[in-house]
This record gives sequence, C-alpha cells and structure tokens, in this order.
Amino acid sequence: MKAIALSTFGGPDAFELCEVPKPVPGPGQVLVRVHATSINPLDYQVRRGDYPSLVQLPAITGHDVSGVVEAVGAGVTAFAPGDEVWYTPQIFHGAGSYAEYHVAAENIIGKKPAALSHLEAASLSLVGGTAWEALVVRAALRAGESILVHGGAGGVGHVAIQLAKSMGARVMTTVREANFEFACSMGADVVIDYQNEDYVEAVMRETAGHGVDVVLDTIGGDTLSRTPEALAQLGRLVTIVDIAQPQNLIHAWGKNASYHFVFTRQNRGKLNELSALVERGRLRPHVGATYSLADIPLAHARLESRDNGLRGKIAIAVVPPANP
Ligand SMILES: NC(=O)c1ccc[n+]([C@@H]2O[C@H](COP(=O)([O-])OP(=O)(O)OC[C@H]3O[C@@H](n4cnc5c(N)ncnc54)[C@H](OP(=O)(O)O)[C@@H]3O)[C@@H](O)[C@H]2O)c1
Repeated sequence: MKAIALSTFGGPDAFELCEVPKPVPGPGQVLVRVHATSINPLDYQVRRGDYPSLVQLPAITGHDVSGVVEAVGAGVTAFAPGDEVWYTPQIFHGAGSYAEYHVAAENIIGKKPAALSHLEAASLSLVGGTAWEALVVRAALRAGESILVHGGAGGVGHVAIQLAKSMGARVMTTVREANFEFACSMGADVVIDYQNEDYVEAVMRETAGHGVDVVLDTIGGDTLSRTPEALAQLGRLVTIVDIAQPQNLIHAWGKNASYHFVFTRQNRGKLNELSALVERGRLRPHVGATYSLADIPLAHARLESRDNGLRGKIAIAVVPPANP
C-alpha cells in the first residue's frame, strides 16, 4: 500500500511517498481502507522532532481516520467488512493514518456519522474528541455558564465553540479580526481580536467584571499565563497544549481555580456522542482545504504557516475526491 512516511525528522520535505506492507488485523483489530485523514499540529510536531523519545523512525504519522472496514480480526463483533467507520489512532503507539490502510483496536472505532462525508469525519475525530474531553469530561461545562475558547478559528476551537453552544453556554472566543464572521457562524456570542485587543479586559467587560466560568486554552505560552485573570471565582481552566514554560499561578490561587490538562484519549463512546450531535445538526467540522495523500508535505507547510485564509481543518483525500 502507499503511505507517507518519515525516515528522519525535519521540514515538510522529510516526508516520502513509499510502498509499505498492508497491515494485517490481529485479534480484536479492524483493517480499514482509509478514505480520508486530516492534518493536526501534532503531526508537524512529530515530523519536526518535538517528541523524539516517543516516535520511532521510520514512522507513519497521522491521527484521524475515516474509511471503510476491509477485514476484521478474530473476536471482533462490532464491525463487519463494508462498515463506514471513523476514529483517532492511538497516539504514539503504532502506525498513523497517512496511508491507504490502517489497523486499529475495535474499541476505539465508531460508526461514521451518516451526515458527514469521509473528509468531514476525518476532520472531526481528533479535534472533536479533544473538545469533548475538555468541555464535557473535564470542565463539566453547564448550561448558563460562560466559556472563553482560545483559538476559535482553529481545528479544536471551531468545534469547541459548537460543542459549548450545544451545552447551553455563552461562548466568547479569541480569533484574528478576519475570522470574526467565521467564529460567529460557528455560534460564538462574543468575538475578541487577539491581535489588537487585551482578551482579559474584553472578558471582564463582557461579564461585568466577573470573568468566565471556563477557559479552553489551545494556545499555551503567554496566552495561558494570563488566562487565570479572565476566570471567575471557582473557574475551571482546561489546557490541551504542553506546558513548555513555567506558570505563575498567583491569579489562579486568588480565583480558587482548578486546572485540567488534557491529552486526548480514544474510545468509541465519545465518538458516538459526537455522532449524535452531528446527526442533530449541532456539530459540523469546517473543512478549510483539501489535499491528496501525495501532497501532505504541502498541507503541512500550509497548516504550520497558518496563512490568513485558513479556517477549521485541512483534510486529506486518500481515496481521490470523486468518491471521498
Ligand atoms: N492535548 C491534546 O489532546 C490535543 C489535541 C488536539 C490539539 N492539541 C494542541 O492544541 C493546539 C491547537 O490545535 P488545533 O488543531 O486547534 O490547531 P490549529 O488548527 O492550527 O488552530 C490553532 C488556532 O489558534 C489560533 N491562534 C494562534 N495564536 C493565537 C493567539 N495568540 N490567540 C488566539 N488564537 C490564536 C490560530 O489562528 P490564526 O489563523 O489567527 O493564526 C488558529 O486558528 C496545538 O498545539 C495542538 O497540538 C492538543
């Protein structure tokens, strides 16, 4: 089968299109013909060598699958050949999804939402699963509460806005000005220009000085450092990024805040919950651009540069677009 593999860490040109053996499903595993995958920042972080001790070369990265079951291993009862499925492969364990076929344990695979194309489903599994973990499992966001979603035009952010709205929250989000309309179309109640406004001041203005109940941090760095200032008393902060710099928690202390760290976990239950929201018309990923398997290096360069026109996700059509 064809795959895009890394034999060395580096820039987008470190990828090579190559032929590798088609995987064989073991007991409890499912072999999936990958119709679509997508690009996540984790993929370029892996590619450039941010996690060398966790990635063994040569490596196939890629963290989203939407496709069709080709074969099942012994003991698999939930799926049969021909089923349309979606999932996020285990992170840092086994091969990723930049390939024509992928094998995974049946318990992390879900039936693809019928309302989504393969390109859309592959653009939702990782970011949707992460937003679910952050807002539902960890922050336990409640109807009537307020939330600030940092990076509302990004992969996780645009899905988190929709999820928070479906949970009945008032949603504020930071985006660049060019993405105001996009963020509003996702359901944001308040948009804050992160390039030209102080987001803490904006949140305090919008909440009559109380702050927000929950913050979802998708940015880290200085953005994360200042975030406790925007929290209400007993506020919850969920961050999904690795914390590379020391944090001064003085404001978190004063707010009686709680911190949650999310490294997304895979399970079918979460996919089914997302699927139900999709079917009810409450959640839909935005595919901002589509590339072929061979053009993954271009897609990486585009996501990393985060050019002005990019919103939502970059999808990869592994099966050509006529039938994605
Ligand atoms: N822990 C986990 O399980 C997990 C899961 C998924 C993702 N992540 C991590 O979460 C981060 C975001 O992932 P993603 O898929 O959403 O990435 P993405 O699609 O690249 O989106 C990032 C967004 O952040 C915006 N942004 C950049 N600087 C900002 C700032 N100072 N304030 C507000 N927004 C800003 C960008 O907007 P512009 O277009 O204006 O630049 C872009 O819309 C990445 O670091 C990723 O590795 C972690």
